[in-house]
Amino acid sequence: MEFRIFRKETTESTNLDARAGVHGDVFTAREQTAGRGRLDHRWLARPGENLTFSAVLSVADLPLDEVMTLPLVAGLAVRRVTGGAVKWPNDVLVDGRKIAGILCERSGDNVICGIGVNVNQTVFPAEIAARATSLKLVRGAAQDRNAVFDALLAELGALYETWRAGGFTAVYAELAAHDALKGAVVSVRQTDGDPAPVKGLCGGIRADGALLVAGRPVYAGEAVRTVPV
Ligand code: BTN
Repeated sequence: MEFRIFRKETTESTNLDARAGVHGDVFTAREQTAGRGRLDHRWLARPGENLTFSAVLSVADLPLDEVMTLPLVAGLAVRRVTGGAVKWPNDVLVDGRKIAGILCERSGDNVICGIGVNVNQTVFPAEIAARATSLKLVRGAAQDRNAVFDALLAELGALYETWRAGGFTAVYAELAAHDALKGAVVSVRQTDGDPAPVKGLCGGIRADGALLVAGRPVYAGEAVRTVPV
């Protein structure tokens, strides 16, 4: 698919800019002054070192359970470029460390798919330093941000079209082959109801996008790996 790209030097958050967009628009900025992560976290990225962008993608006429799988599709697109694996529901890890985060937000008939990828950053805030990585750290050399951006948009566009035509089923096998949590012992804080964490062996992402933990499907939440005692 063709994207229309709107570039800014500085913005508050590209996800906010994207609220004015239509299907196929992509908003990007060298710097976000109030980058937003999931669950009210901040997204911190050093100006000009990483990629921060938001794509407006139509989900018109799709049922909610299908729309809910779009973050996983976006994660898979990022994974195709960065390598590594998708950590349910919307992170990409390389060597067990986070290289990208995804914040999808509904906006009318569209989903704003906000993606932050650590490209050339090598120094991270202390609180995330042990859990973060970047393409430069993984590949051992600085990367061309424009080339990475082009590759990400090409994969996002291709996977979005596959998903639109064939549903989550059409991308599921590839996702299941790159599932960061499958086989790990996890604790999942659910964000759609029951406050008690679900703990146990992770059976991986199911064909409906839920995460299987101790034999139970979890539909929304934040998962961490734990060490069995
Ligand atoms: C997360 O890991 O919690 C999600 C992070 C999403 C960050 C991206 S950067 C581009 C877009 N604009 C934002 O303010 N957030 C998303």
